[in-house]
Amino acid sequence: MLERNRQIVLKRRPSGLPVPEDFAIADAPLPEPQAGEVLLRGIYLSLDPYMRGRISGVRSYARPTGIGEVIEGRVVGQVVRSRDPAFRDGDYASGGYGWQLYSAVPAGGLLKLDPAEAPISTALGILGMPGMTAYVGLSDIGQPKAGETVVVSAASGAVGAVAGQLARRQGARVVGIAGGAEKCRYVEEELGFDASIDHRSPDLGAALDQACPKGIDVYFENVGGAVQAAVFPRLNDFARMVMCGMIAEYNDPTPLPGPNLGAVVRKRLKIQGFIVGDQRQRHGELRAMAAPLVRSGQLKYREDIGPGLERAPEAFIGLLQGRNFGKLLVKLGDDPSR
Ligand SMILES: NC(=O)c1ccc[n+]([C@@H]2O[C@H](COP(=O)([O-])OP(=O)(O)OC[C@H]3O[C@@H](n4cnc5c(N)ncnc54)[C@H](OP(=O)(O)O)[C@@H]3O)[C@@H](O)[C@H]2O)c1
Repeated sequence: MLERNRQIVLKRRPSGLPVPEDFAIADAPLPEPQAGEVLLRGIYLSLDPYMRGRISGVRSYARPTGIGEVIEGRVVGQVVRSRDPAFRDGDYASGGYGWQLYSAVPAGGLLKLDPAEAPISTALGILGMPGMTAYVGLSDIGQPKAGETVVVSAASGAVGAVAGQLARRQGARVVGIAGGAEKCRYVEEELGFDASIDHRSPDLGAALDQACPKGIDVYFENVGGAVQAAVFPRLNDFARMVMCGMIAEYNDPTPLPGPNLGAVVRKRLKIQGFIVGDQRQRHGELRAMAAPLVRSGQLKYREDIGPGLERAPEAFIGLLQGRNFGKLLVKLGDDPSR
């Protein structure tokens, strides 16, 4: 165990695409767990698109990260000193304690993980927040029916891969949009989507017409920008647009002018946004449904695990440019469960 802690803090607010100089490495004393807390050693850190919003300083549904503060993030780790009867030294757990190697955290805020149920890293991906996002967005808003056409953007990513697989299990025809031939091949051949489209193809509209001959009934929106502009006019009457995220626009200082929403009325569309954190209490539902499917290989996932806390800023910047391939994690320390 290290004598000291290491953290990544926000040095200044990024303008446009973040650069490594927006972040700083800080060393700190090892935190001391109080009664009811545990000292957790980080093994995997989750890097997620929402972090771009947190470091921008814009107040939204969550408080922004302050200058000099540790960047927010969820971690899977191992208990190295427990001062709570619910955890023993050596237990695995996940919780939100930021871009750092160690943290003393209240035991009540941690989810205990059983490596026999699924690899512990999945608590940050398919069985964690991104998986929940796909599950909630699809079951509450998208509600695909057998035979309908579902389009999912950022389809090879943490949320999109799960959303598409779940829609397919409900009998829908699923078309994934992803960046580049390798991701498209993965989406079709490994995840089993019916078709895939490279969002860099010169005529996205024509590619959508070909892949969705009966139009689009559900659009699971992860990207925004040019992809949204191409999908929107192809939505069928009574289509549902699951507004999950618009990562292509997160670095734009001024929002792009939106589509003309007249069609929302004409086609009786349903466009609804959601924040996965509002449905925290349903996490057990997802784990009960998805963990056996992950174990049996019927639900597939891919992780992109980068080395070392110090490289987290670089990896995060890559996420905003599509350089990750699968759920982006950073390895903070040894994983004795593997
Ligand atoms: N509403 C909620 O509660 C909630 C919760 C979690 C996540 N989200 C949202 O869900 C979306 C996906 O998140 P994730 O964690 O699954 O990330 P991810 O898909 O694993 O990674 C981000 C992906 O976005 C794509 N991308 C980045 N810039 C793009 C651009 N300019 N144009 C098109 N695609 C671009 C890239 O894939 P390609 O290479 O394929 O382009 C990149 O790999 C994000 O918008 C995120 O904010 C929302």
